[in-house]
Amino acid sequence: MNGIDSIEVRTASARYDAVVGRGALRHAAALMADRGLRPSACAIVCDAAVEHGAAKSVDDSLRAAGTRSVRITMAATEDSKSLATLGDLCERMLADGIDRDGAVIAVGGGVVGDVAGFAAATYMRGIPCVQVPTTLLAMVDAAVGGKTAVNLVRADGSIAKNIVGSIAQPRLVICDPEALATLPARALRSGLAECVKHAVIADPAMLGWITARIDPILAHDPDTLGALVARNIRIKAGVVGEDEREDGRRAVLNLGHTFAHAIESLAHGEVTHGEAVAIGTLAACRLAPGPAADDAERAVRSALQAIGLPTALPAAMLVERLMDAMASDKKRRGGVLRLVVPHGLADVRVEAGLPAARVAEAWRSVGAR
Ligand SMILES: NC(=O)c1ccc[n+]([C@@H]2O[C@H](COP(=O)([O-])OP(=O)(O)OC[C@H]3O[C@@H](n4cnc5c(N)ncnc54)[C@H](O)[C@@H]3O)[C@@H](O)[C@H]2O)c1
Repeated sequence: MNGIDSIEVRTASARYDAVVGRGALRHAAALMADRGLRPSACAIVCDAAVEHGAAKSVDDSLRAAGTRSVRITMAATEDSKSLATLGDLCERMLADGIDRDGAVIAVGGGVVGDVAGFAAATYMRGIPCVQVPTTLLAMVDAAVGGKTAVNLVRADGSIAKNIVGSIAQPRLVICDPEALATLPARALRSGLAECVKHAVIADPAMLGWITARIDPILAHDPDTLGALVARNIRIKAGVVGEDEREDGRRAVLNLGHTFAHAIESLAHGEVTHGEAVAIGTLAACRLAPGPAADDAERAVRSALQAIGLPTALPAAMLVERLMDAMASDKKRRGGVLRLVVPHGLADVRVEAGLPAARVAEAWRSVGAR
């Protein structure tokens, strides 16, 4: 198909394409059929923000090809990323006659992708899933790699994220940069934080590429966004191709995330995940001493500034509170704090047992008191 970039994702358990291109959603049925995916009926799971846009385009394409489809909407919030929503989805699919020859098409951000992906992985012991991400974060990160999950609520009322789920690769990922046209600027910038993370892990030249194109990116230019998405999917596909189940290398994708989770746990919803990842990635650059790490920090800081992402904590948060939040994260993860440490650009390593003083210093470098 003209103008559609196809990236092969090859993991231990599966091989599939992530396609990126303007107008790709209008060709969803053909893109599926080209890859042998001709379901008897499709459950299109989406959230309200994309119901009349991206989800309708997919629906129209399926109907034109003679495939029966049903549209199921869910709320895109962490609260609705739950076992209850999973149950509702599966019951709707059952009522709507989706059987073993059917498929799930997840149209939305990471919330819809994770829940609908998990529904596809478990409904009738597994039916095919097509991921149609509609946020930048979901295009460059969540839709590729097969992680699906819902959250649970702890006894103290806090949310345990992604605690029940599976690794089940989609059969196809379709990214249409035109679907990002309605994405608010803050959500777009949050997705860019994951691109900065990818750049530090494996593609330092992307920092300059993004900086040079920040105006068309923030203006939702579909060609620039398409190129950005494809470049990031290649990075993610490379990492998950090496280590699908996060036994080793895949953990580098958590760069900045342990810091980010601590920030999010104290910020009471005032900081988006991407903003927290931006600050966390910058803080992580202070974990390794040396000139190469200093260079990485400078490059990350200047890219974040060009994008308009924060480079410091919102209000002076206390180092002790942030360290406590990290410690409870560590307790939940089997007592070992593993951090992804950039020793330089494209030289990140997963390290356990870093001295607390060095972690505290990293927090101070982003404004903690
Ligand atoms: N599976 C993975 O590997 C993976 C990786 C990263 C994040 N995640 C998960 O992804 C979730 C976050 O994803 P997200 O940032 O996409 O958030 P999201 O799914 O909550 O979407 C953010 C907001 O954007 C709206 N939206 C979606 N597409 C839109 C569009 N085109 N135009 C306008 N509004 C639109 C949604 O309705 C929502 O309000 C988290 O639950 C996280 O755990 C999963």
